[in-house]
Amino acid sequence: MSNIQAKLKAGLAALALTGPFLLPQAAQAEGTVNIYSQRQPFLIEPLLDAFTEETGIETEVLFLKDGLPERIAAEGENSPADVILTVDIGRLVGVVEEGVTQPIESEAINAGIPEQYRDPEGHWFGVTTRGRVIYASKDRVEQDTITYEELADPKWEGKICMRSGQHMYNIALFASMIAHHGEAEAEEWMKGLKTNLARKPSGNDRGQAQAIYAGECDLGLGNTYYVGKMMTNDKEPEQKEWADAIKVLFPNNDARGTHVNVSGMALAKHAPNKENAVKLMEFLASPEAQAIYAEVNFEYPVREDAEVSDLVASWGEIHPDDLPLAEIAKHRKAASEMVDRVGLDEGPES
Ligand SMILES: [Fe+2]
Repeated sequence: MSNIQAKLKAGLAALALTGPFLLPQAAQAEGTVNIYSQRQPFLIEPLLDAFTEETGIETEVLFLKDGLPERIAAEGENSPADVILTVDIGRLVGVVEEGVTQPIESEAINAGIPEQYRDPEGHWFGVTTRGRVIYASKDRVEQDTITYEELADPKWEGKICMRSGQHMYNIALFASMIAHHGEAEAEEWMKGLKTNLARKPSGNDRGQAQAIYAGECDLGLGNTYYVGKMMTNDKEPEQKEWADAIKVLFPNNDARGTHVNVSGMALAKHAPNKENAVKLMEFLASPEAQAIYAEVNFEYPVREDAEVSDLVASWGEIHPDDLPLAEIAKHRKAASEMVDRVGLDEGPES
């Protein structure tokens, strides 16, 4: 067999092993980015469509409600994951702690995303923010300003509703209370909050608006975007009535600011399409993408130069607490232990 024939034979054998799609696949890999997302597909599809239109890079999304970091860890070096999308500072820090991210240094991203909403080490970046606000009964609550501290005031005895204190949204809020006041004072506050509860913490954020509508309580803790989701819910129109029963109060808005959390992104440790992944992350931090995000989920763009939607603007202007989320993350564990110690989830009577 001549040298050329031998090479050809070896080449054909290789082709048989990998299949006839070897070349198209390799070519496609140049123009693809794989996203592992804990955010619902309808929220990110408009953004990804705009990204593909602008760059020609195709996107593949794996939606994982639970177990995202574990899945990437199990896939190891062969993980197809390029970009991770998730919500809450707890989950963002969680993927980093699982060891499935890598840091990036991008001028475009850093210029767009304020420092308080990104990891100082460059592992995670906030993309949108949401306020942890107070839903107040329009009929029964006269005041239009409030503080988190006030939730422990005896005047609210038996009037406050909330979801589990262990839910990540509440843990981040409690962690911010620890950061601002220290553990001892935050714990006294949490005891006061527990005494003021109308019922055992239960349901989700929207459930607290429903309870106010039903007259079970006057104040509830909830994220801002759920108000938009309730107001526009044609599938379950009763939610429009819940939203109509409440007004949004931005706690501490005139002083240190309202506690906000983020939805965010991270670059996967073994990203096979790293260059495209960074392009996508830069796109998500761009004014164009920020405007789309703000419209689809009633969140706040993380960029200061991006507009909020009209509906979100109708609740009033939010002044976010400028405590960095990385600082809040440090107190999450203490917050969770405090919830147990105080027995917050056991409700007012225990
Ligand atoms: Fe949520």
